[in-house]
Parts: sequence; C-alpha cells; structure tokens
Amino acid sequence: MTAIGIHDLELATTHHVLNLADLAAFQGIDPNKYHIGLGQDQVSMPAPDEDVVTMGAAAAQQILARHGTDGIRTLLFATESGLDQSKAAGVWVHELLDLPSHVRVAEFKQACYAGTAALQAALGIIARNPSERVLVITSDVARYELGSPGEPTQGAGAVAMLISADPDVLEIEPISGVYTEDVDDFWRPNDSTTAVVDGRLSVRAYLDALVGAWDDLASRGGPSADTLARIVYHQPFTKMAMKAHTHLARHTGVDLGEGGLKTGSVYNRMLGNTYTSSLYSSLASLVDHEEDLTGQRIGLFSYGSGLVGELFTGIVQPGANKNGRRARTEEMINSRVPLDVETYRELHSHLLSSTQDAETPRVTKAPFRFAGIKNRARYYQRTGN
Ligand code: CAA
Repeated sequence: MTAIGIHDLELATTHHVLNLADLAAFQGIDPNKYHIGLGQDQVSMPAPDEDVVTMGAAAAQQILARHGTDGIRTLLFATESGLDQSKAAGVWVHELLDLPSHVRVAEFKQACYAGTAALQAALGIIARNPSERVLVITSDVARYELGSPGEPTQGAGAVAMLISADPDVLEIEPISGVYTEDVDDFWRPNDSTTAVVDGRLSVRAYLDALVGAWDDLASRGGPSADTLARIVYHQPFTKMAMKAHTHLARHTGVDLGEGGLKTGSVYNRMLGNTYTSSLYSSLASLVDHEEDLTGQRIGLFSYGSGLVGELFTGIVQPGANKNGRRARTEEMINSRVPLDVETYRELHSHLLSSTQDAETPRVTKAPFRFAGIKNRARYYQRTGN
C-alpha cells in the first residue's frame, strides 16, 4: 500500500503577543496559575489587519515556495473562526497565493477537530490518486470574553500542511479511532464573537472523548499503547495534554512515560490555543525539538468540542525536521510585538461590522493583510513583505 501522510508543515501566527504575566498582574493574581496551572506563557493576538485568511495564506505560501503547486487540485481550509456563513476562507487564500483555477476549495468545521477531518479527507483523495497532493490549512483565532476563565487560554495561529504520497514528515497509518457525542461543553453561536464555554465540563468531555476514541482504535485492531514512542494532543492549554496523557495511561494500563509532553508543547505555550492548528503545532514542536524520531510511531489525539475526538497514529519520516522550521518558528514567535494590557483590551473589543465600509490600519508585517470591508465583502492585499 502507498504510504500517505504529511509531507511538509509550516506555522504562522500574529503580529502581536500578550504576556500572561502582564494579564495576571492586571488581574491581581499569581502568574503561576497561568505558567504552571495552565502551562501557558503567552497569547498570540491579531492586529486589526490580520485574520485566519492572512495567517493561513502566510503559512501556505512557504509550503508552495518549497514544493510548487504541481498536483495540487484541492485546498481544504479548517477553522472554527469562520469569516462568512457561505464563502470558504480558503477561496481568499487561493486568490492571495495565485493558485490555478483548477483547484477545488472547501471549508471544514467541527470546532478544533476540523483540521483532522480535512486531513482524513486529503488522505482519501490521495489514496484514490497518489499523484495528487492536497493543501490543508488550519487557522484560528481563539477569543473568549474579557475577564472570563477562558481569557488566558486565547491564542491565534495557522498551520499549512502538504499531504501527499511518500511523505517526508509523517506517514499516517490507516486505522484510527473516532468518537462523537452531542455535548454542550463549548460552542460559538452565530451572533457571538466569543465562545460560550462550560470549562469544567469541557475538560471532562475532552477526557471522555480520548477514552472513547482510544477504545474504538483498539477495537479496530490499532497499534497497542506500548508501541507509541510519543503522543501529541490537542492543547487548549498545555496542562490539558498532561491531564490527557495521565488519563490515557491509567485507562490503557500502560506506562506511557513522559511521552514527549515537553517537546510537544514548546510552540503551544507561546501561541496560546490555536484551535484547529493546536494539534499540528504540537506535532511540529515535537519533531522540531527531538533529535531524531525517525521510524518511531507516534499517537495523535484530535479533539473538537461539541464533540468529536479522533486518535490516530503515524510513523515519523527521516525528513521530519530537516528544513529549518524550528529556527523560522522561533524567529516568528520571538518577533511578535508585545501589547500592554490596556491596548490588548481595546484591540479585543474592536471588531468591524460587515454592514459598514471600513479600511483597516496597516500594522502587520506578514505577506498578506486584511484590508477592510467594501459593500459588505472582505478584501485582502499582498503587502510585499
Ligand atoms: N500556581 C500553580 N497552579 C495554580 C495556581 C498557582 N498559583 N492557581 C491555580 N492553579 C492551578 C489549579 O490548581 C488548576 O490545576 P488543575 O487543573 O491541575 O486542578 C489550574 O491551575 C487551573 O485553575 P482553575 O481550575 O481554578 O482555573 P479556572 O477554573 O479559572 O480555568 C479552565 C480553567 C476552566 C480550563 C479555563 O481556562 C477555561 O474555561 N478554558 C477554556 C475552555 C478549555 O480550554 N477547555 C479545555 C477542554 S475543551 C477543548 O479542548 C476545546 C478547545 O480548544 C476549547
């Protein structure tokens, strides 16, 4: 059978960053609640001329620069920060990246799980025609109400992945475990710009979905837990991965060891929750911070509130960390411009209405910018950076 999986992946994030130590000082609480209690240090925050399209296009541009567009006939955009009820955000990315017309574009939604749904669809397309390659983009801005328990778990980021036969980064194995249940743990109604969340329930729901997906994987003849060298998890905050790892070890009765929790959360601690991108940022973090995992099997747990979970496995390939992604990602993370808490709160409250024409200020240094709204339609520009 042809090996299919992730051939390359690249991260993008925002212009601004909020340090959680500053938020804790503003709130008059111990910053260790965030650093240790949640395992988070920073939150990426978009400038007024950034959104899921600009981040997604920035990540994908680098993938296309390395691999070209040959064989790409599908662009799948996964997000839970949708910009339009009808148009797929990937259509704007298609235009910004000057992709050929003969590329189909669609948007996937199921909270943070949507990126994995897009990945699975891509694997199916390539299984049918191994000469094709699929561009999968995950991109999100996590927003909670100011002052809410979710506020320190905000974040923003995108991951672009090229899915192909004979992949360089991760061969995805065919058996996966899935679990779906209708639970109101976290959702965002159509008329709300912030998520509604029952935090305690969401943590329990995540752990239940992990066990449900694991049991399905095991019942379908998936690999046993003791063959997993590392496991990467969806990380709304990095401490959640620790809770999940402990829970899975207890459930399987297997000593899973440290499991790559530290190496798999370096980027996530600094980006915050990137929703659909969180699991794939963690995968990048893992392979970028371990000398060589070539040939080793890793587990990946994807969770989307509401809820859908999927646990699947992959074999790390020799090219996993060979293209300088770690240096680029560190540079990108370290060059974000810090916000003081007052400016962050103003930015958080400032959202454009689709009913009024508006131009956004030029702030971002990224290659693409959200320029504004004209006749109720969003428009974008290349910045030349
Ligand atoms: N030093 C060290 N640790 C401290 C501390 C201090 N000074 N003060 C508190 N802590 C610890 C607490 O003991 C606790 O640890 P445990 O979880 O191990 O018990 C931790 O910090 C958090 O403290 P609280 O439970 O009091 O925090 P909270 O109630 O204010 O908020 C939360 C926690 C409910 C998860 C909140 O961040 C939230 O609502 N987040 C958004 C929802 C979310 O991310 N859910 C996760 C699962 S859903 C999902 O995964 C989908 C998704 O992406 C949203």
